[in-house]
Amino acid sequence: MIKLAIIGTGGMANTHADNFSQLRGCKIVAACDVDQKRVQEFAAKHKIPHTFTTVEDLLQWGRFDAASNVTPDPFHAPISLALLAGGKHVLCEKPLAVCYSDAAEMVRAARKAGVINMVNFSYRNHSAIHKAHALVSKGVLGRLLHVEATYFQSWLSQNGWGDWHTNPAWLWRLSTAHGSKGVLGDVGVHLLDFASYPAGDIASVYCRLKTFPKAPGGKIGEYRLDANDSAVITAEFTNGALGSLRTTRWATGHHNSITLALYGEEGALKIDLDRSGSELELCRVKQRKLGAWATVKCAKTPSMYQRFLTGIRTEVQDQPDFARGAAIQKALDACEQSHRESRTISL
Ligand SMILES: NC(=O)c1ccc[n+]([C@@H]2O[C@H](COP(=O)([O-])OP(=O)(O)OC[C@H]3O[C@@H](n4cnc5c(N)ncnc54)[C@H](O)[C@@H]3O)[C@@H](O)[C@H]2O)c1
Repeated sequence: MIKLAIIGTGGMANTHADNFSQLRGCKIVAACDVDQKRVQEFAAKHKIPHTFTTVEDLLQWGRFDAASNVTPDPFHAPISLALLAGGKHVLCEKPLAVCYSDAAEMVRAARKAGVINMVNFSYRNHSAIHKAHALVSKGVLGRLLHVEATYFQSWLSQNGWGDWHTNPAWLWRLSTAHGSKGVLGDVGVHLLDFASYPAGDIASVYCRLKTFPKAPGGKIGEYRLDANDSAVITAEFTNGALGSLRTTRWATGHHNSITLALYGEEGALKIDLDRSGSELELCRVKQRKLGAWATVKCAKTPSMYQRFLTGIRTEVQDQPDFARGAAIQKALDACEQSHRESRTISL
């Protein structure tokens, strides 16, 4: 029985708790949050026996094997490093850190600890992305030439997910002082992983970020609303393919829409998660003269939570690990630098 702790018991922690609760061979034994009321409510909801308000107290108690780090982005590095130093396996939320040097330190610490380390690039829960990776690796598309990827949300322009003006869970995401790296760091991180897992490593980026005015004086209470909310990235991949990756929180009509299209010399594939996460569209030799697409059903793949537990059980590290999280962090840092300096940055 793998004993788990969940640290940071806000919105996303419920997804971790719900997923782990459905899996055999593990038990959530502890929850930790700086907000005592929140952690107690969370523990009561998910029937978790022990609660803590500091990671130090949790680690001193120590009766757990592994932890989900579901705290806001700036706490990913310090809390994961403390867990690793305590010899615990860590599933850390994305982005792995807030800069590449912190992420690289986490990779070193994980190697030293010799424990299972994973970053929750949760769109890898969809089997279509693994099928896309396999098709590209097998050369089914031929030489890859062009990549199109989008991640569109709309919680700034329509209140499908509640009123962002009054909810700290949305407000911290708009404020750099609260550790946010904007839409780029929040969901652009998924986009970079989702596109480059099948398409291959990114060689260089040119990025334009934008922060649109959204409140009088650019401020709501303690939150200065200065984090980017739209990003457009031109990427070149190490295999020579050229890509366009776009994300925004202003895409009215899209609550949470992710698409990927890969175009090669021998064929093309498309994924649209609004349509299906377990199917992709493929256009190959036969159909390509007609511009016709066939639907490919993709065999079920394990979730991130299953991969994490299997890794602990078998002592075999699965992907995406902290090293992958750090590689994506490097691309995020390059995007920020590119925007600041208005030039292409090589990775
Ligand atoms: N993988 C995904 O698809 C996905 C989806 C949503 C959020 N996330 C990530 O999950 C993380 C949390 O996001 P959220 O939406 O749940 O945020 P949230 O604001 O709802 O919850 C964060 C919780 O962490 C607690 N916290 C803050 N500092 C802490 C500390 N030092 N120790 C312990 N607890 C602390 C807060 O009190 C809060 O309860 C973020 O990094 C976010 O990027 C990932």
